[in-house]
Amino acid sequence: MSLASAPAALRMEQGARTGQPVIISLDSAGPGPALGGCRIKPYPSWRDGLDDALRLSAAMTAKTALAGMPYGGGKTVVALSPATAARYAGARRADLLADIGEAVESLGGRYITGPDVGTSPPDMTVIGQHTRHVLCRPPGAGGSGDSSVPTAAGVLACINVLRDRLFGGRPAHELTFAIQGLGHVGRLIADDLARQGASLVVADTDPARQRLAGRWGARLASPEQLLTAGADILVPAALGGILTRQAVPALRCRAIAGPANNQLADDSVAGLLHAHGITWAPDPVVSAGGIVAAVAREIDHLAEPEVQGLLAAIGDRLGAILDESARSALPPLTVARQRIRERLAGGGLLARRKGQQRLTGVVVDD
Ligand code: NAI
Repeated sequence: MSLASAPAALRMEQGARTGQPVIISLDSAGPGPALGGCRIKPYPSWRDGLDDALRLSAAMTAKTALAGMPYGGGKTVVALSPATAARYAGARRADLLADIGEAVESLGGRYITGPDVGTSPPDMTVIGQHTRHVLCRPPGAGGSGDSSVPTAAGVLACINVLRDRLFGGRPAHELTFAIQGLGHVGRLIADDLARQGASLVVADTDPARQRLAGRWGARLASPEQLLTAGADILVPAALGGILTRQAVPALRCRAIAGPANNQLADDSVAGLLHAHGITWAPDPVVSAGGIVAAVAREIDHLAEPEVQGLLAAIGDRLGAILDESARSALPPLTVARQRIRERLAGGGLLARRKGQQRLTGVVVDD
Protein backbone atom coordinates (compact mmCIF):
# COMPACT_ATOMS: atom_id res chain seq x y z
CA MET A 1 0.00 0.00 0.00
CA SER A 2 1.73 3.15 -1.10
CA LEU A 3 0.96 6.63 0.04
CA ALA A 4 4.38 7.90 -0.94
CA SER A 5 4.62 11.54 -1.92
CA ALA A 6 6.87 14.35 -0.77
CA PRO A 7 7.97 13.53 2.76
CA ALA A 8 7.65 16.06 5.57
CA ALA A 9 11.39 15.89 6.01
CA LEU A 10 14.25 13.89 4.65
CA ARG A 11 17.66 13.59 6.23
CA MET A 12 20.46 11.91 4.34
CA GLU A 13 23.95 12.36 5.65
CA GLN A 14 27.14 10.37 5.70
CA GLY A 15 27.93 8.96 9.11
CA ALA A 16 30.96 10.50 10.79
CA ARG A 17 32.53 7.14 11.59
CA THR A 18 31.70 5.11 8.51
CA GLY A 19 30.97 7.56 5.68
CA GLN A 20 27.90 5.41 5.06
CA PRO A 21 24.78 7.45 4.15
CA VAL A 22 22.03 7.20 6.77
CA ILE A 23 18.63 8.02 5.24
CA ILE A 24 15.78 9.08 7.53
CA SER A 25 12.42 9.88 5.95
CA LEU A 26 9.78 11.56 8.11
CA ASP A 27 6.55 11.12 6.20
CA SER A 28 4.23 12.72 8.73
CA ALA A 29 4.00 13.99 12.27
CA GLY A 30 1.27 14.24 14.87
CA PRO A 31 1.15 15.41 18.44
CA GLY A 32 3.67 12.63 18.92
CA PRO A 33 6.77 12.09 16.80
CA ALA A 34 7.10 9.95 13.68
CA LEU A 35 7.63 6.25 14.39
CA GLY A 36 9.35 3.68 12.21
CA GLY A 37 12.14 1.14 12.31
CA CYS A 38 15.68 1.08 10.98
CA ARG A 39 16.35 -1.10 7.93
CA ILE A 40 19.93 -2.11 7.06
CA LYS A 41 20.26 -4.24 3.94
CA PRO A 42 21.94 -4.42 0.56
CA TYR A 43 20.34 -2.45 -2.28
CA PRO A 44 21.46 -2.12 -5.92
CA SER A 45 22.24 1.56 -5.16
CA TRP A 46 21.62 4.12 -2.42
CA ARG A 47 18.85 5.56 -4.62
CA ASP A 48 16.90 2.31 -4.22
CA GLY A 49 17.37 2.64 -0.46
CA LEU A 50 16.02 6.19 -0.65
CA ASP A 51 12.95 5.00 -2.59
CA ASP A 52 12.40 2.29 0.01
CA ALA A 53 12.68 4.80 2.87
CA LEU A 54 10.02 6.99 1.22
CA ARG A 55 7.67 4.06 0.63
CA LEU A 56 8.20 2.54 4.06
CA SER A 57 7.78 5.82 5.95
CA ALA A 58 4.52 6.42 4.06
CA ALA A 59 3.42 2.93 5.08
CA MET A 60 4.16 3.87 8.70
CA THR A 61 1.85 6.89 8.34
CA ALA A 62 -0.87 4.51 7.16
CA LYS A 63 -0.09 2.10 10.00
CA THR A 64 -0.21 4.64 12.83
CA ALA A 65 -3.29 6.33 11.35
CA LEU A 66 -5.22 3.07 10.95
CA ALA A 67 -4.22 2.00 14.46
CA GLY A 68 -5.57 5.30 15.79
CA MET A 69 -2.18 6.26 17.22
CA PRO A 70 -1.32 9.94 17.71
CA TYR A 71 2.02 9.53 15.92
CA GLY A 72 3.33 10.01 12.43
CA GLY A 73 5.30 7.71 10.15
CA GLY A 74 9.05 7.58 9.56
CA LYS A 75 11.81 5.18 8.54
CA THR A 76 15.59 4.85 8.59
CA VAL A 77 17.33 3.04 5.74
CA VAL A 78 21.01 2.25 5.37
CA ALA A 79 21.56 0.97 1.85
CA LEU A 80 24.54 -1.37 1.81
CA SER A 81 26.44 -2.74 -1.18
CA PRO A 82 27.62 -6.37 -1.31
CA ALA A 83 31.06 -5.15 -0.12
CA THR A 84 29.82 -3.05 2.79
CA ALA A 85 27.24 -5.69 3.83
CA ALA A 86 30.00 -7.97 5.13
CA ARG A 87 31.84 -5.10 6.80
CA TYR A 88 28.80 -3.86 8.71
CA ALA A 89 27.64 -7.33 9.71
CA GLY A 90 30.98 -7.69 11.49
CA ALA A 91 33.70 -5.54 12.98
CA ARG A 92 32.36 -2.12 11.98
CA ARG A 93 28.73 -2.70 12.95
CA ALA A 94 28.99 -0.73 16.21
CA ASP A 95 30.35 2.26 14.26
CA LEU A 96 27.43 2.12 11.82
CA LEU A 97 24.91 1.87 14.65
CA ALA A 98 26.56 4.83 16.39
CA ASP A 99 26.22 6.87 13.18
CA ILE A 100 22.53 5.93 13.01
CA GLY A 101 22.02 6.88 16.67
CA GLU A 102 23.55 10.30 16.05
CA ALA A 103 21.38 10.81 12.96
CA VAL A 104 18.25 9.99 14.98
CA GLU A 105 19.38 12.26 17.81
CA SER A 106 19.98 15.13 15.39
CA LEU A 107 16.22 15.22 14.71
CA GLY A 108 15.66 16.30 18.31
CA GLY A 109 12.86 13.86 19.15
CA ARG A 110 10.80 14.34 15.98
CA TYR A 111 11.45 10.68 15.15
CA ILE A 112 11.73 7.47 17.17
CA THR A 113 13.45 4.46 15.64
CA GLY A 114 13.33 0.72 16.32
CA PRO A 115 14.24 -2.62 14.71
CA ASP A 116 13.29 -3.57 11.16
CA VAL A 117 14.72 -5.89 8.50
CA GLY A 118 18.45 -6.25 9.19
CA THR A 119 18.41 -4.87 12.73
CA SER A 120 17.64 -6.43 16.11
CA PRO A 121 16.87 -5.43 19.72
CA PRO A 122 20.59 -5.67 20.71
CA ASP A 123 21.36 -3.25 17.83
CA MET A 124 18.87 -0.85 19.45
CA THR A 125 20.95 -0.93 22.64
CA VAL A 126 23.96 0.35 20.70
CA ILE A 127 21.87 2.97 18.86
CA GLY A 128 20.45 3.90 22.27
CA GLN A 129 23.91 4.88 23.50
CA HIS A 130 23.65 7.83 21.12
CA THR A 131 19.97 8.76 21.34
CA ARG A 132 17.03 8.39 23.72
CA HIS A 133 14.65 8.08 20.80
CA VAL A 134 14.69 4.33 20.30
CA LEU A 135 12.22 1.52 21.04
CA CYS A 136 12.57 -2.26 21.44
CA ARG A 137 15.91 -2.57 23.21
CA PRO A 138 16.10 -5.97 24.94
CA PRO A 139 14.18 -6.09 28.26
CA GLY A 140 17.49 -6.30 30.15
CA ALA A 141 18.50 -2.99 28.59
CA GLY A 142 15.25 -1.28 29.47
CA GLY A 143 13.21 -1.85 26.30
CA SER A 144 10.25 -4.01 25.31
CA GLY A 145 12.40 -6.39 23.24
CA ASP A 146 11.59 -8.34 20.12
CA SER A 147 8.67 -6.77 18.24
CA SER A 148 8.15 -9.94 16.19
CA VAL A 149 6.14 -11.52 18.99
CA PRO A 150 3.38 -8.85 19.09
CA THR A 151 3.56 -8.47 15.30
CA ALA A 152 2.80 -12.19 14.95
CA ALA A 153 -0.01 -11.84 17.52
CA GLY A 154 -1.61 -9.11 15.40
CA VAL A 155 -1.34 -11.23 12.24
CA LEU A 156 -2.89 -14.22 14.01
CA ALA A 157 -5.78 -12.03 15.25
CA CYS A 158 -6.38 -11.03 11.62
CA ILE A 159 -6.22 -14.64 10.44
CA ASN A 160 -8.94 -15.48 12.99
CA VAL A 161 -11.11 -12.72 11.57
CA LEU A 162 -10.61 -14.08 8.04
CA ARG A 163 -11.58 -17.57 9.26
CA ASP A 164 -14.79 -16.10 10.71
CA ARG A 165 -15.73 -13.88 7.77
CA LEU A 166 -14.68 -16.06 4.83
CA PHE A 167 -14.54 -19.65 6.05
CA GLY A 168 -17.62 -19.82 8.27
CA GLY A 169 -15.46 -19.99 11.40
CA ARG A 170 -13.80 -23.23 10.31
CA PRO A 171 -10.94 -24.09 12.68
CA ALA A 172 -7.36 -23.65 11.53
CA HIS A 173 -6.86 -27.43 11.40
CA GLU A 174 -9.33 -27.58 8.50
CA LEU A 175 -7.42 -24.95 6.51
CA THR A 176 -4.17 -24.69 4.57
CA PHE A 177 -1.84 -21.71 4.96
CA ALA A 178 0.98 -20.73 2.60
CA ILE A 179 3.66 -18.83 4.50
CA GLN A 180 6.23 -16.84 2.55
CA GLY A 181 9.29 -16.11 4.70
CA LEU A 182 10.28 -18.02 7.83
CA GLY A 183 12.12 -15.21 9.59
CA HIS A 184 11.29 -13.71 12.96
CA VAL A 185 7.58 -13.20 12.34
CA GLY A 186 6.88 -15.93 9.78
CA ARG A 187 8.20 -18.70 12.00
CA LEU A 188 6.13 -17.56 15.01
CA ILE A 189 3.00 -17.60 12.83
CA ALA A 190 3.93 -21.06 11.54
CA ASP A 191 4.56 -22.30 15.11
CA ASP A 192 1.12 -21.13 16.21
CA LEU A 193 -0.78 -22.44 13.19
CA ALA A 194 1.04 -25.79 13.38
CA ARG A 195 0.08 -26.06 17.08
CA GLN A 196 -3.53 -25.57 15.97
CA GLY A 197 -3.11 -28.46 13.51
CA ALA A 198 -3.22 -26.39 10.33
CA SER A 199 -1.71 -27.68 7.08
CA LEU A 200 1.23 -25.53 6.06
CA VAL A 201 3.14 -24.95 2.86
CA VAL A 202 6.17 -22.74 3.41
CA ALA A 203 9.02 -21.11 1.50
CA ASP A 204 12.16 -19.17 2.27
CA THR A 205 15.17 -18.22 0.17
CA ASP A 206 17.54 -19.13 3.02
CA PRO A 207 18.38 -22.88 3.10
CA ALA A 208 18.80 -22.82 6.90
CA ARG A 209 15.25 -21.51 7.27
CA GLN A 210 13.88 -23.94 4.71
CA ARG A 211 14.92 -26.70 7.11
CA LEU A 212 12.35 -25.39 9.63
CA ALA A 213 9.62 -26.95 7.45
CA GLY A 214 10.32 -30.30 9.11
CA ARG A 215 9.41 -29.10 12.59
CA TRP A 216 5.87 -28.22 11.44
CA GLY A 217 5.42 -31.19 9.11
CA ALA A 218 5.02 -28.53 6.43
CA ARG A 219 5.34 -28.94 2.69
CA LEU A 220 8.32 -26.94 1.40
CA ALA A 221 7.77 -24.98 -1.81
CA SER A 222 10.29 -22.95 -3.76
CA PRO A 223 9.93 -19.17 -3.31
CA GLU A 224 8.66 -19.01 -6.92
CA GLN A 225 6.05 -21.74 -6.43
CA LEU A 226 4.64 -20.64 -3.10
CA LEU A 227 2.13 -18.12 -4.45
CA THR A 228 0.57 -20.76 -6.67
CA ALA A 229 0.98 -23.71 -4.32
CA GLY A 230 -2.71 -23.76 -3.34
CA ALA A 231 -3.81 -22.59 0.12
CA ASP A 232 -6.84 -21.06 1.80
CA ILE A 233 -4.84 -18.15 3.22
CA LEU A 234 -1.54 -16.78 1.92
CA VAL A 235 0.69 -15.17 4.58
CA PRO A 236 3.34 -12.84 3.11
CA ALA A 237 6.09 -12.61 5.75
CA ALA A 238 9.15 -11.83 3.61
CA LEU A 239 9.58 -8.58 1.72
CA GLY A 240 7.18 -6.20 -0.04
CA GLY A 241 6.06 -5.87 -3.65
CA ILE A 242 5.11 -9.53 -4.13
CA LEU A 243 1.53 -8.90 -5.27
CA THR A 244 1.87 -7.73 -8.86
CA ARG A 245 -0.72 -7.52 -11.64
CA GLN A 246 1.05 -10.44 -13.31
CA ALA A 247 1.02 -12.59 -10.16
CA VAL A 248 -2.66 -12.17 -9.25
CA PRO A 249 -4.29 -14.36 -11.95
CA ALA A 250 -2.05 -17.26 -10.93
CA LEU A 251 -2.67 -16.98 -7.17
CA ARG A 252 -4.39 -19.99 -5.63
CA CYS A 253 -5.81 -18.67 -2.35
CA ARG A 254 -9.01 -17.18 -1.00
CA ALA A 255 -7.44 -14.56 1.28
CA ILE A 256 -4.11 -12.87 2.01
CA ALA A 257 -2.95 -11.56 5.41
CA GLY A 258 0.64 -11.17 6.51
CA PRO A 259 3.11 -8.82 8.18
CA ALA A 260 5.22 -7.86 5.15
CA ASN A 261 5.06 -4.12 4.54
CA ASN A 262 3.94 -2.76 1.13
CA GLN A 263 2.81 -6.09 -0.30
CA LEU A 264 1.13 -4.55 -3.35
CA ALA A 265 3.42 -3.62 -6.24
CA ASP A 266 0.98 -0.76 -6.81
CA ASP A 267 -2.47 0.15 -5.54
CA SER A 268 -4.24 -1.04 -8.71
CA VAL A 269 -3.45 -4.61 -7.62
CA ALA A 270 -6.00 -4.22 -4.79
CA GLY A 271 -8.82 -3.86 -7.33
CA LEU A 272 -7.54 -6.82 -9.31
CA LEU A 273 -7.44 -9.03 -6.21
CA HIS A 274 -10.98 -7.95 -5.38
CA ALA A 275 -12.13 -8.76 -8.93
CA HIS A 276 -10.56 -12.23 -8.59
CA GLY A 277 -12.49 -12.84 -5.36
CA ILE A 278 -9.36 -12.78 -3.20
CA THR A 279 -9.70 -10.86 0.06
CA TRP A 280 -6.52 -8.90 0.74
CA ALA A 281 -6.16 -7.72 4.33
CA PRO A 282 -4.33 -4.35 4.07
CA ASP A 283 -0.84 -4.78 5.46
CA PRO A 284 -0.74 -1.53 7.48
CA VAL A 285 -3.61 -2.94 9.55
CA VAL A 286 -2.28 -6.50 9.81
CA SER A 287 1.34 -5.63 10.63
CA ALA A 288 0.72 -3.05 13.37
CA GLY A 289 1.28 -5.31 16.40
CA GLY A 290 4.95 -4.53 16.88
CA ILE A 291 4.60 -0.77 16.97
CA VAL A 292 1.34 -0.89 18.93
CA ALA A 293 2.92 -3.03 21.67
CA ALA A 294 6.21 -1.10 21.81
CA VAL A 295 4.41 2.22 22.30
CA ALA A 296 1.96 0.70 24.79
CA ARG A 297 4.76 -0.80 26.88
CA GLU A 298 7.55 1.76 26.62
CA ILE A 299 5.77 5.11 26.18
CA ASP A 300 2.29 4.58 27.64
CA HIS A 301 3.47 2.08 30.31
CA LEU A 302 0.30 0.00 30.01
CA ALA A 303 -0.21 -3.23 31.94
CA GLU A 304 0.13 -6.49 30.00
CA PRO A 305 -3.63 -7.27 29.79
CA GLU A 306 -4.18 -3.87 28.18
CA VAL A 307 -1.36 -4.53 25.69
CA GLN A 308 -2.94 -7.86 24.77
CA GLY A 309 -6.29 -6.06 24.36
CA LEU A 310 -4.69 -3.64 21.89
CA LEU A 311 -3.26 -6.54 19.90
CA ALA A 312 -6.65 -8.27 19.77
CA ALA A 313 -8.16 -4.97 18.57
CA ILE A 314 -6.03 -5.24 15.40
CA GLY A 315 -8.31 -8.11 14.37
CA ASP A 316 -11.40 -6.05 15.22
CA ARG A 317 -10.10 -3.23 13.05
CA LEU A 318 -9.62 -5.57 10.10
CA GLY A 319 -13.10 -6.99 10.72
CA ALA A 320 -14.63 -3.50 10.53
CA ILE A 321 -12.80 -2.82 7.24
CA LEU A 322 -13.95 -6.14 5.75
CA ASP A 323 -17.53 -5.49 6.86
CA GLU A 324 -17.49 -2.07 5.20
CA SER A 325 -15.90 -3.60 2.10
CA ALA A 326 -18.69 -6.19 1.93
CA ARG A 327 -21.38 -3.49 2.38
CA SER A 328 -19.93 -1.14 -0.20
CA ALA A 329 -18.48 -3.72 -2.61
CA LEU A 330 -15.25 -1.70 -2.50
CA PRO A 331 -11.85 -3.38 -2.06
CA PRO A 332 -10.55 -3.35 1.55
CA LEU A 333 -7.73 -1.04 0.43
CA THR A 334 -10.24 1.61 -0.68
CA VAL A 335 -11.99 1.40 2.69
CA ALA A 336 -8.66 1.59 4.53
CA ARG A 337 -7.57 4.60 2.48
CA GLN A 338 -10.82 6.35 3.31
CA ARG A 339 -10.16 5.75 7.01
CA ILE A 340 -6.62 7.06 6.70
CA ARG A 341 -7.87 10.22 4.98
CA GLU A 342 -10.42 10.76 7.76
CA ARG A 343 -7.73 10.24 10.35
CA LEU A 344 -5.33 12.64 8.66
CA ALA A 345 -8.01 15.28 8.21
CA GLY A 346 -9.93 14.95 11.45
CA GLY A 347 -9.32 15.47 15.11
CA GLY A 348 -5.93 17.12 14.67
CA LEU A 349 -4.34 13.78 15.44
CA LEU A 350 -2.07 13.71 12.47
CA ALA A 351 -0.84 16.47 10.25
CA ARG A 352 0.86 15.27 7.12
CA ARG A 353 2.99 18.20 6.28
CA LYS A 354 2.92 18.04 2.53
CA GLY A 355 4.80 20.76 0.76
CA GLN A 356 7.22 21.24 3.62
CA GLN A 357 9.81 18.99 2.12
CA ARG A 358 13.21 19.60 3.57
CA LEU A 359 16.35 17.90 2.44
CA THR A 360 19.28 17.95 4.79
CA GLY A 361 22.67 16.44 4.40
CA VAL A 362 25.05 15.50 1.70
CA VAL A 363 24.44 12.81 -0.85
CA VAL A 364 27.28 10.59 -1.90
CA ASP A 365 28.63 9.13 -5.11
CA ASP A 366 27.68 5.54 -5.96
P1 NAI B 1 13.13 -11.42 8.71
O1 NAI B 1 14.18 -10.73 7.93
O2 NAI B 1 13.44 -12.00 10.03
O3 NAI B 1 12.47 -12.58 7.82
C1 NAI B 1 12.20 -12.46 6.46
C2 NAI B 1 12.43 -13.85 5.85
O4 NAI B 1 11.98 -13.83 4.50
C3 NAI B 1 13.87 -14.30 5.85
O5 NAI B 1 13.97 -15.60 6.39
C4 NAI B 1 14.25 -14.29 4.37
O6 NAI B 1 15.21 -15.28 4.04
C5 NAI B 1 12.91 -14.59 3.73
N1 NAI B 1 12.75 -14.21 2.33
C6 NAI B 1 13.27 -13.14 1.67
N2 NAI B 1 12.86 -13.15 0.39
C7 NAI B 1 12.05 -14.23 0.25
C8 NAI B 1 11.31 -14.77 -0.84
N3 NAI B 1 11.31 -14.21 -2.04
N4 NAI B 1 10.58 -15.90 -0.62
C9 NAI B 1 10.56 -16.48 0.58
N5 NAI B 1 11.27 -16.02 1.65
C10 NAI B 1 11.99 -14.91 1.47
O7 NAI B 1 11.92 -10.36 8.83
P2 NAI B 1 10.74 -10.35 9.89
O8 NAI B 1 11.11 -9.54 11.06
O9 NAI B 1 10.24 -11.74 10.08
O10 NAI B 1 9.64 -9.52 9.09
C11 NAI B 1 8.94 -10.10 7.99
C12 NAI B 1 8.22 -8.99 7.24
O11 NAI B 1 7.30 -8.36 8.13
C13 NAI B 1 9.13 -7.88 6.72
O12 NAI B 1 8.61 -7.41 5.51
C14 NAI B 1 9.00 -6.80 7.78
O13 NAI B 1 9.23 -5.52 7.24
C15 NAI B 1 7.56 -6.96 8.19
N6 NAI B 1 7.29 -6.48 9.54
C16 NAI B 1 8.00 -7.00 10.59
C17 NAI B 1 7.76 -6.54 11.87
C18 NAI B 1 8.48 -7.11 13.05
O14 NAI B 1 8.09 -6.80 14.18
N7 NAI B 1 9.50 -7.94 12.85
C19 NAI B 1 6.77 -5.49 12.13
C20 NAI B 1 6.03 -5.07 10.96
C21 NAI B 1 6.31 -5.55 9.70
